Amino acid sequence: MDPQIFDKTDQYIADLFVEDDVALRTTLESVEKNNIPNISISATQGKLLQVLAKACNAKRILELGTLVGYSTIWLARSIPDDGALITIEYEEKHVALARQNINNAGLTHKVEIRTGKALDILPKLEQENAGPFDLIFIDADKPPYLEYFNWAIRLSRPGSIIVADNVIRAGKVLDPNSEDEAVKGVQRLNNFLAVCKEVTATIIQTVGTKEHDGMVIAFVNGK
Ligand code: SAH
Ligand code: DHB
Ligand code: MG
Repeated sequence: MDPQIFDKTDQYIADLFVEDDVALRTTLESVEKNNIPNISISATQGKLLQVLAKACNAKRILELGTLVGYSTIWLARSIPDDGALITIEYEEKHVALARQNINNAGLTHKVEIRTGKALDILPKLEQENAGPFDLIFIDADKPPYLEYFNWAIRLSRPGSIIVADNVIRAGKVLDPNSEDEAVKGVQRLNNFLAVCKEVTATIIQTVGTKEHDGMVIAFVNGK
């Protein structure tokens, strides 16, 4: 098999379904120029998030892990002008770049960046009655993924969709004895989801321009 086949196919899908876009291109350039880790979602994954947001008629979105705002832009574009997206990020450098990129994309009116640790901000959102969110995208640090997911359930409603990125980690999740804290974190979430009655969930493998990985897609059941 052509070792490039997944990459080429991802490009084929992007050519079909992703329009060339200055704001998104500038955002990815800001990753390169500022020595930021190259861990934004891919274009085809951005399009998938848009499809999911539209499928649940999302008006309110919560994101954990902004980086420089690439996934934020995809998600914010999927909600109406009177919708709102809250995104949580604790690195000041990332927040500053994200602000620029989101502004450059003309989305500042829909996006609120909350600076701080996700586990500090999530209880505040609950106190503020900021929810329920229609779609929640979990993409911050991996060890507390189960805690993040439980917060996502609390801040959702029946019918919400919860997505969690990077839950396959190039197949490293197959090793039950892994000592990698990120792998252990996502395994804990995946094993919980296998028995959780509050959601209907699965994982799709993601391959292509990014390393082999996967996304949890979960539908919040009626309570
Ligand atoms: N969603 C982005 C990529 C996020 S990368 C995209 O696809 O474009 C993960 C981000 O989470 C990084 O910017 C990192 O600084 C941030 N992060 C990691 N741990 C965090 C925490 N505990 N609280 C808030 N942000 C965190
Ligand atoms: C990592 C984090 C991500 O959000 C991602 O998409 C890829 C890798 C990481 O921390 O390794
Ligand atoms: Mg990710």
